[in-house]
Amino acid sequence: MSARLPARAQPSISTDRGAAPMRLHIQSFGCQMNIHDAERMAEILQPLGYAETASPDEADLVILNTCHIRQKAAEKVYSELGRFKALKAARRNGGREMLLVVAGCVAQAEGEEIFRRQSAVDVVVGPQAYHRLPELIARAHRAGAKPLALAFTPSEKFDSLPRTRTPAGPTAFVTIQEGCDRFCTFCVVPYTRGAEFSRPAALIEAEVRALVGSGVREVTLLGQNVNAWRGVEGEGLADLVEGLAEIEGLARIRYTTSHPADMSEALIAAHGRVDKLAPYLHLPVQSGSDRILRAMNRAHTAASYSSIIDRLRRVRPDIAVSGDFIVGFPGESDDDFEATMALAERVRYASAFSFKYSRRPGTPAAAMARQVPEPVKEQRLARLQALLRRQQQEFNRASVGARTEVLFERPGRHDGQIAGRSPYMQAVHCPGPASFIGKVLPVVIERAESHSLAGRILAEAA
Ligand code: 5AD
Ligand code: SF4
Repeated sequence: MSARLPARAQPSISTDRGAAPMRLHIQSFGCQMNIHDAERMAEILQPLGYAETASPDEADLVILNTCHIRQKAAEKVYSELGRFKALKAARRNGGREMLLVVAGCVAQAEGEEIFRRQSAVDVVVGPQAYHRLPELIARAHRAGAKPLALAFTPSEKFDSLPRTRTPAGPTAFVTIQEGCDRFCTFCVVPYTRGAEFSRPAALIEAEVRALVGSGVREVTLLGQNVNAWRGVEGEGLADLVEGLAEIEGLARIRYTTSHPADMSEALIAAHGRVDKLAPYLHLPVQSGSDRILRAMNRAHTAASYSSIIDRLRRVRPDIAVSGDFIVGFPGESDDDFEATMALAERVRYASAFSFKYSRRPGTPAAAMARQVPEPVKEQRLARLQALLRRQQQEFNRASVGARTEVLFERPGRHDGQIAGRSPYMQAVHCPGPASFIGKVLPVVIERAESHSLAGRILAEAA
């Protein structure tokens, strides 16, 4: 099935460079939303004759889909651009062109500055404007212009994106919400992704139905603040999930990323009631100290966060909890950090991400006094990560011997192996035929390895 562009976005780009398809290389950084956006960009460009390639040196078009969340990620863009500048020059010497596009949150945040810092860049396009890529690329080709597109209107983007998608496998991301109104004081997202915007339930349901019709068994509902999703009639995420659960053939529903203050009673209850809602929740906490949470403008306390987890476990005792942490936020004392350690001990995470606070220009925390020295951040991060790693190992070890259901997504790393995920988001591989890919099968877990579980498909499945 080929994705089709709506008529008004159809560009008059020349594809007359011989029969060979043009090559597109996309390098994506950052969150799942970015990974999903990269897939959609490839879908938009495919009807123009662009086929994806993993090797940048043979690419006619390179897109760097960037992340601005931490300084390191943002800086990496400029070093990567330096590398692509050299590739572009080498291609030009060989008589071929390479168009260089910067997309994503760095594009949104830096705009024009990117052209100034790296003259090899041809197009700069923000996360709400990439539906215009065909036109922007055509302009760059035709006039040698340097188009810059930084919109803040997700509705226009969603209206212009192709309705039909070609899923890459049995799992798919579906964007249901974009943007964030929470303004945590450390975070650039409200500035790069803009205000909260929810897609209407009817469009989401139609997209999920079509994906299921093309073989998708699991959808992950995506949003920067996904549980703030609101339907046109005022429905919440719990209602949306219950509606989607009725779609025959859909086996699992996940959603990410959530904010504790938007975790409604109805959504908590849905975890106990809706079988298809996976027993897994990514719920960032950032800190276990109420003083720091207040300075972060998080709108929850350590106790209110723990209480959400307790209530979730009451309705779904096996739920796997994941989270995000920041250590070394301005003013974080040893006691504040110990409160974070205590919270992690109490919650017992199945998996978690933790970061050193990174000062982002333009955010309120960047201007706060008492920035924490780098070596202190490093020590704290090492201690927290050791604890979180231990908890993850404990969670995985507890699965050994247990029976679980695995949705097989792809061939495994070794011949004769297939791989997928448990309901708890654990990576599982088993011996099995490729014909089982796309199925949810009962598996007994035999071993916990460092990054995945090894299992055996139960005979009753065959
Ligand atoms: N410094 C460090 N970590 C950050 N995050 C967001 N902004 C920053 C920052 N300035 C982390 C948070 C968030 C995750 C996506 O990235 O933990 O939940
Ligand atoms: Fe950033 Fe906070 Fe919004 Fe999450 S909730 S995207 S951390 S501002």
